[in-house]
Amino acid sequence: MSMLIKGSEQGQRYLSGGDMAKALGITRAAVWKYIEAIRKDGAEVVAAPRLGYRLADPEDVLMKGAVMPATQIIGGSYQYYGEIDSTNSEAKRRIRDGCQDGLVIIAENQTAGRGRMGRKWLSRPGKGLYFSVVLFPAYLPIDQAALLVPLTAVGVCRALEEFGIQVDLKWPNDLLYQGRKLGGILLEISGEADRVRYAILGIGINVNLAKEDVPPELADIVTSVAMIKGEEVGRRLLLEKILESLDSYYRRFSRGGSDTFINEYRSLCWTVGRSIRFEWQGKIWDGFAQGIEADGALRVQTENGDTLALRSGDVHCL
Ligand code: BTN
Repeated sequence: MSMLIKGSEQGQRYLSGGDMAKALGITRAAVWKYIEAIRKDGAEVVAAPRLGYRLADPEDVLMKGAVMPATQIIGGSYQYYGEIDSTNSEAKRRIRDGCQDGLVIIAENQTAGRGRMGRKWLSRPGKGLYFSVVLFPAYLPIDQAALLVPLTAVGVCRALEEFGIQVDLKWPNDLLYQGRKLGGILLEISGEADRVRYAILGIGINVNLAKEDVPPELADIVTSVAMIKGEEVGRRLLLEKILESLDSYYRRFSRGGSDTFINEYRSLCWTVGRSIRFEWQGKIWDGFAQGIEADGALRVQTENGDTLALRSGDVHCL
């Protein structure tokens, strides 16, 4: 089916059912069944009498064969779903069954998308990027695995910059635009005492969500690329940029450790330099976010002058 996708990319050409059948060595009825399957999976296929078929918006199609990032590890294998419970949950199932380093799992819609701290993640079919990357960083000590969150945040941030969007990174995992949530990262890891067995980078980005796609209770909290830019963006183009950026940061990190990106994270981190409220050892504290440690922890000075390194949890800016 990649022929259908490539053909339509070249100046929105139509491909006739007969030509596709010939090229693929299948019947016209089989071609029609494929087209119905593609439609069912969420892609809009335009049919014109005597001309044939074309994808309505090739730049927005996320199916296998359409997404072609120039990467070395991330995206080497790729799984697309029209709908799934959660791409992170599917990543765990794939790991259990044996999968390749760098596998990307993407869905048009998630019925049980998960955020951090047991929260739900809002997915809207065809409007966002909801995907997970499976990594096997065998070299990485388990106490440094959390660095994959700021690494991912910087990688996504740089890709969004190429689309004219400058995001703020709220420690540890939020992508914000003018204080509203544009995306988030859910890192799930498993390991032994000294090494990471697997890491799943779950990434959700509100790409083409319009105001009416957002429930009223989230209206003041959530934003999207389309809301910021005033126009929709091709999700395939954005996904390819993100995968390329993540692949490049991840490979540099594998060779050179956190020095390869942590200063970038520091300069993009919106939390640093602010008064914050946070939970630590079962109590609520107020303090001041002083900086980011080499392992990604947030260095905080508490009201009573003590300094501590926050490694997980939520912080609220005061
Ligand atoms: C957060 O902000 O709390 C993290 C949100 C992460 C959401 C993404 S969407 C793709 C992947 N699959 C999930 O179930 N969650 C992550």
